[in-house]
Amino acid sequence: MDATITPEWIRGAKARGERVAALTAYDYPTARLLDEAGVPLILVGDSVGMVVLGYPDTTQVTLAEMRHHVAAVARARTRALVVGDLPFHTYQTPAEALANARVLMEAGAQAVKLEGGVSVVPEIEAIRGAGIAVMGHIGMLPQSVHEEGGYKIKGKTDEGRAQLLADAKAVAAAGAFALVMELVQPEAAALITASVDIPTIGIGSGQGCDGQILVTHDLVGAFPWFRPKFAVARAEVGAAIRAAAESFVRDVTTR
Ligand code: KIV
Repeated sequence: MDATITPEWIRGAKARGERVAALTAYDYPTARLLDEAGVPLILVGDSVGMVVLGYPDTTQVTLAEMRHHVAAVARARTRALVVGDLPFHTYQTPAEALANARVLMEAGAQAVKLEGGVSVVPEIEAIRGAGIAVMGHIGMLPQSVHEEGGYKIKGKTDEGRAQLLADAKAVAAAGAFALVMELVQPEAAALITASVDIPTIGIGSGQGCDGQILVTHDLVGAFPWFRPKFAVARAEVGAAIRAAAESFVRDVTTR
C-alpha cells in the first residue's frame, strides 16, 4: 500500500504521467470502501445536497452540513486525500473563504475545493496563504445553476474556450494543486489540460483530462432517479436495495 496521499502527490501525478481517479463520498462506510479500494482522492462534494439530502440542487447546502459529512468521511480515511467542498456563498471574500476553509480542515479535510476561475483568485490565494491546499473547479459550476439557467456544456465557442483557459491558468497560478473541469467540451478540456502544469480532473469533459472524477452514487447506481449522460454505472445498488426491501416486506407480511 502506498503512503498517505498528499496534495503534492496529486499535483505530481501529472509530471509522473499517472492519471488520477477521484470519487465522492459523504459517509463513513462509503469512504472506507473507497479508501480500501485504493481511490487516491475522495471529494466530500456539495453534491451531497442532491444525492443524499434531497435538495433540488447544491445551492442549499450549508457549511454545517458539509462539516458533518467531511467529519464522517475523515473518520474512515487511512490513505486517500480527503477534499471538502466549500458550499455556495461561503467564500465571497478572501477572509470568509479562509475562515470557512478552516472549518472544513478542522472537521478533517486535507484540502478544500471551490468553484470559479479568475474571479476567485483572491479567495484561493487567501486560503493558500494560510497553508491550506486548494483544488479548483471550472467549467459548468453547479453552484451557479440559477444564474446560468441550467447545467450547460462549456467551451463550445472561441470566447468560451478563451475564458476557460484564462480561468484554468489563473487557478493554477493562484496555487491550486489540481483542477476539476466539469462539462467542458472535450477538445477544450484537452487544450486546457495541455496548457496547465497541475492535473485536470474531468467530469463529463472527455478523455483528454489528466484524471476523472464521478459522483459515487452515479458510479454505483445509488441514485436511480437521475443519472448524468456521461456517467456509466458499474453497479446497481439502488435496484439491489429496493429488491432487498421488497423481499423483506414479502417475507414479513406473508409469514
Ligand atoms: O460536488 C461534487 O460532487 C463535485 C463533483 C461533481 C466534482 O463538485
